[in-house]
Amino acid sequence: MCGIVGYIGKRKASEVLLNGLNRMEYRGYDSAGISVIEDSKLITMKKKGKVSLLESIVDHKSLTSTIGIAHTRWATHGYPNDVNAHPHSDNSGNISIIHNGIIENYYALKIKLTEEGYTFKSETDTEVLAVFIGALYEQVNDLERAVRMALSEVSGTFGIVVLSSHEPDKLIAARRGSPLVVGIGKSEYIAASDATAIVQYTNSVVYLSDNEMAIITRDGFTTKTISNRKTIKAIQEIKFSIDQIEKSGFEHFMLKEIYEQPHTIRDSFRGRLLSEKGNVKLGGLSSVKDKLRSAGRIIITACGTSWHAALVGEYLIEQIAQVPVEVEYASEFRYRNPILNPDDVVFVISQSGETADTLAAVQEAKRKGATVLGIVNVVGSSIARETDAGIYIHAGPEIGVASTKAFTAQISVLMLIALYLGRMKNLSLADGRKIAAELNELPAKVESVLQNAEGIKSIAKEYSTAKNFLYLGRGNNFPVALEGALKLKEISYIHAEGYPAAEMKHGPIALIDENMPVVFIATKDDIYDKVISNIEEVKARKGKIIAIATEGDSRIGRIADHVIYIPDSISFLTPILASIPLQLLAYYMALELECNVDQPRNLAKSVTVE
Ligand code: G6P
Repeated sequence: MCGIVGYIGKRKASEVLLNGLNRMEYRGYDSAGISVIEDSKLITMKKKGKVSLLESIVDHKSLTSTIGIAHTRWATHGYPNDVNAHPHSDNSGNISIIHNGIIENYYALKIKLTEEGYTFKSETDTEVLAVFIGALYEQVNDLERAVRMALSEVSGTFGIVVLSSHEPDKLIAARRGSPLVVGIGKSEYIAASDATAIVQYTNSVVYLSDNEMAIITRDGFTTKTISNRKTIKAIQEIKFSIDQIEKSGFEHFMLKEIYEQPHTIRDSFRGRLLSEKGNVKLGGLSSVKDKLRSAGRIIITACGTSWHAALVGEYLIEQIAQVPVEVEYASEFRYRNPILNPDDVVFVISQSGETADTLAAVQEAKRKGATVLGIVNVVGSSIARETDAGIYIHAGPEIGVASTKAFTAQISVLMLIALYLGRMKNLSLADGRKIAAELNELPAKVESVLQNAEGIKSIAKEYSTAKNFLYLGRGNNFPVALEGALKLKEISYIHAEGYPAAEMKHGPIALIDENMPVVFIATKDDIYDKVISNIEEVKARKGKIIAIATEGDSRIGRIADHVIYIPDSISFLTPILASIPLQLLAYYMALELECNVDQPRNLAKSVTVE
């Protein structure tokens, strides 16, 4: 949600910055802009729309600057237009800033500054911060001090980078609540919202903490708190490579990421699954093993697709480990004064590790004394650092805005946690071994599901004119129905609802007629017969049925209009196998409708505002 990047070094800044924006465009694509210093003057270019439109007005040949800042926006305050695009400058035109987050007290500050005679061009909260820094600079003649003074008076969240022609060989970066990473190259530095903008130039980074700033010059950088206390940072290594953030021949990142799932699932198990012992080794949780053993209740909190993974986790942990689990939206959890008992353990799930609501839920749970554990993809992200302990899902960078491989890797890790807890409790060695054996076979089964892509493509062709879809499933396939519906909504803009199949008769059944496609997840499990009855109820009302079913099930072929088969497996693993055809269905529907698969309208990959 908004990508920011600042560069100082020896290369042409405009090229490094535009490259960084392209890498981070999944964070927002409402507008893009850049500021550099040419002949001691700040030059800013900005444009509504995608980074490619900004590129069309930036003439790299005429630019020589080796310092600059750039931004790709997901609009919060003010329409996406050229004026509201970042960077924003102060009234003198000598200070330019880029910002990710929300300045919550911007309105009061704006009134105060207006009374003092300052003017504003845009509707954004960011411009208020820029003007405020400029006003303070007039008093103190010191950029770092002006930034510090301004930041100690603003409330809300920010990741910012400040550039000024007053001090043309310096960048000031600071954060509170929004991510910021500083890449350390040979006589060059890149400050960015995430490491994807950095990895092409260097693998060495430091992650800024909340209320911390970096003062970066051509000779090095120092870090301190906003209240001016020096801090010492450990240099860390970016663990992914440049080819992991490229499309590698696929038409879209989303398709690439769907096809990566056999590997990402295997990677999430690697070094963790102890097949012979029917158990799991989770180094990241060893420090809290006793706490987990005695947990009276587990709460899992997350947003979006990660919340759907949490719902699957609820089934897995309750069924395998017999520990009660509650799942909460992070955005609700944080505000409803949740009751936490001393023996509760809170898991938070987040692909990005930066979702503002999830991060706030971590802080709320910690404030109440709970043990808070992360299930996170992005290494070094805020949630990974703020939780007491945790497990990385190792899915690698996920660039497509609609989450796919992170979802299945999250479920894989939840499965490991369920097995780990189960074996600490009453799960027998034999049952543990059976689950471990099934987990070992899972990547190959996922591979075989992907071979159904052509059939799924033709179903998408047939139904791409439908205005609504219903997705139904029961038990641990209910969250799969929710996720299938979400994927379709997100990237094809077709209205879709996920429902527990049996609940259909309490409302959604009223929608069913010959124009309504209904996707059933009807795998062979304990409640298969009940789901078949639900399918019959839809059929009796002439609804069109697309079923996800278990290979070898001949009965379903006689009732459903279309069947997509997935390999047989223990029921714990059907959520992974069944969600893959639904990802492909959403993908091919979006292609049919010529939607922008990787950058769906209004969405952003990493939601760093409330
Ligand atoms: C956004 C993304 C979703 C994601 C959700 C939670 O809405 O578009 O794909 O599931 O945020 O993100 P997280 O990074 O916390 O998993």
